[in-house]
Amino acid sequence: MDFINQEIDINNKIKHKNIVKLYDHFQLENHVILVMEHMNNKDLKHFIRKFLSKNPDISEPLVAFFILEIIDGLKYLKDSSIIHRDIKPENIMIDSNYIAKIGDFSLSKFIEPQKPYLTSRSGTIPYLCPEALKSKSVNVKSTMTERMDVFSLGIIMYYMIFNEHPFKFKVSIMVYLLLIRMEWNLKIIQKL
Ligand SMILES: Nc1ncnc2c1ncn2[C@@H]1O[C@H](COP(=O)(O)OP(=O)(O)OP(=O)(O)O)[C@@H](O)[C@H]1O
Ligand SMILES: [Mg+2]
Repeated sequence: MDFINQEIDINNKIKHKNIVKLYDHFQLENHVILVMEHMNNKDLKHFIRKFLSKNPDISEPLVAFFILEIIDGLKYLKDSSIIHRDIKPENIMIDSNYIAKIGDFSLSKFIEPQKPYLTSRSGTIPYLCPEALKSKSVNVKSTMTERMDVFSLGIIMYYMIFNEHPFKFKVSIMVYLLLIRMEWNLKIIQKL
């Protein structure tokens, strides 16, 4: 199944207050159009830039409020055997009542009870757990479970509180990506 059909299939099977609803989809020439619930306050990255970074004093209760909402959504995904794989502020949308909802299921996957982990790596580097960043030669695949999404949520929480990422990249993300693509042993990077 290709990515877009997988995204539609997953969206059609889920319904939760903390997940952006897919109302419909249709094909327009070479494009597939997804009709989603409209989230008036855009995404969490926009909200952090606009509000949290300018109001650090009230940030912690607000962060807790959003994180609890996202946890509810992630718990539902876990119970539905879905790994989102791209939990990051840009993919958390905020509605007019400031309810956070998980969106963008373009990288998401269903997992099966007999194989409850992923065999391919995908996601956004600053939010990716260490086991997913490691070389394929290391036997870490069975650790790529729904816990990956929880790790990404932890990074969001840190980012919301401190307004920066917890891990400073000593090499640029592009170089990092290239190294991963080429399946280099990442021990080289860890030593830098
Ligand atoms: N339902 C929505 N309501 C309001 N804004 C939205 C909604 N869905 C997405 N957006 C805005 O559009 C941005 C991109 O959306 P989304 O993450 O779904 O797509 P994408 O990352 O460009 O797609 P893909 O990962 O499939 O290439 C979000 O970060 C958000 O700002
Ligand atoms: Mg996105």
